Amino acid sequence: MAKPRKTYACSNCGRSQPTWFAQCPECGEYSTAEEKAELPASAPRAARALATSGQAARFEELEGVSPNAHSRSTTGIADLDRVLGGGLVPGSFNVISADPGAGKSTLASQMLAKLSRAGRKVALVAAEESAGQVKLRFDRLGESGAGVQITQETAIERVIEGVLSAGHDLVVVDSIQTVYSLESSGTPGSVTQVRECGQALMRLAKEHGVTVFMIAQVTKEGTLAGPRMLEHMVDVVLSLEGDRDGQFRVLRAVKNRFGSTDEIGVFTMTGAGLEGVEDPSAAFITRRSVPAIGSVLCPVIEGSRPVLVEVQALATPSNLQQPIRACRGIAPDRFRMLMAVLSRRCNLRLGTYDIYLNLGGGLKVDEPALDLACCLAVASAYKDKELAPGTAAAGEVTLLGEVRPAPQVERRRAEVARLGYGEMISAEEADDVASALAAAGLDQD
Ligand code: TYD
Ligand code: MG
Repeated sequence: MAKPRKTYACSNCGRSQPTWFAQCPECGEYSTAEEKAELPASAPRAARALATSGQAARFEELEGVSPNAHSRSTTGIADLDRVLGGGLVPGSFNVISADPGAGKSTLASQMLAKLSRAGRKVALVAAEESAGQVKLRFDRLGESGAGVQITQETAIERVIEGVLSAGHDLVVVDSIQTVYSLESSGTPGSVTQVRECGQALMRLAKEHGVTVFMIAQVTKEGTLAGPRMLEHMVDVVLSLEGDRDGQFRVLRAVKNRFGSTDEIGVFTMTGAGLEGVEDPSAAFITRRSVPAIGSVLCPVIEGSRPVLVEVQALATPSNLQQPIRACRGIAPDRFRMLMAVLSRRCNLRLGTYDIYLNLGGGLKVDEPALDLACCLAVASAYKDKELAPGTAAAGEVTLLGEVRPAPQVERRRAEVARLGYGEMISAEEADDVASALAAAGLDQD
């Protein structure tokens, strides 16, 4: 029989190769190589032997399978329900990720309080904070937390045993980086520990039907900290965006096995926790009755609804060899590309200006339909020329300086009108950026 060959697999992303590595060529993590014995070369023969031993997989007719209609239940938080795809799915494995201070624990506490009041048996694994701190948060939220059970146990095996013997049907683990598995070495938060704990909690969800929410920190790059595999394991990845000091928080599903990933939930952080915002369009823009320099509205489509956002730009003469290009809310490379289009296709001499671009309300948008509004805002700021109040635009800008129509343009127009503003500049009004500048009254120097 052939001897098993050795391979080395990355414990973060799962990539394997025949030689040891210090840094994984796939995900770039260090010290994640784990020695594994590869299946013997005669594996197919072994599989044939299995097939005759009565252990082969059984197949059934797909037609006869009854569809898994998830009996969803409400979390008591309308925006959370929407982002989950219509409510909680029993036995689902979820993760909420965000920067520290974004409000993960707050959102989870509010959900626990609401579910407990609705008669659900819920528990919180407070591995990051003391029970007293948790109680203080519930007090701030104006919730007694009656019925919510709490433990400070951090060994995941003991947590799971506790959950099973108490019969909770939903458990929140705050956070996955602070619990550890007795069966694994390494400190809590390490790649191996997070993976082990994730796997143990996945079994709790899938084998015992307990709904599990893990709270996870994100890395500087904004991705889930810990092994990449965590993201593959879970059913739903929710991300809570927004600045710690900012007023708004946007909740979105980065991954959702039970629903769409475009829906967003918008919250404000109040003295009594996160509160759903009913009309995000009205919340994200600043109402002005006088003309302003460098402000353009854009209706972006987030899931099933259009949301009006405000693009603000500022241009100041620069003494720097490399002028500043700073943006918040849009991808920096997209921003630089739009600046290049404005310089080249519209003859704006932006090279001696520092340019700042910001989206109101701390929203992040990656829809290309935002391009035209960014161009108009920067042109207005650079030319120091006012735009009429409520100037709105939507359209993708190409490298050639053309404007491509944004999808669902009529819905966007309707949203601008609903908030009491007039015309929206789109590909219909202007087929290139230069004519869009003219349409907004920005063509003369
Ligand atoms: P928290 O939920 O603890 O953040 P995370 O778990 O994501 O690290 O708290 C987020 C911030 O919200 C914190 O700075 C305090 C603030 N906050 C309020 O403004 N109002 C409240 O009712 C609560 C509970 C917190
Ligand atoms: Mg927290």
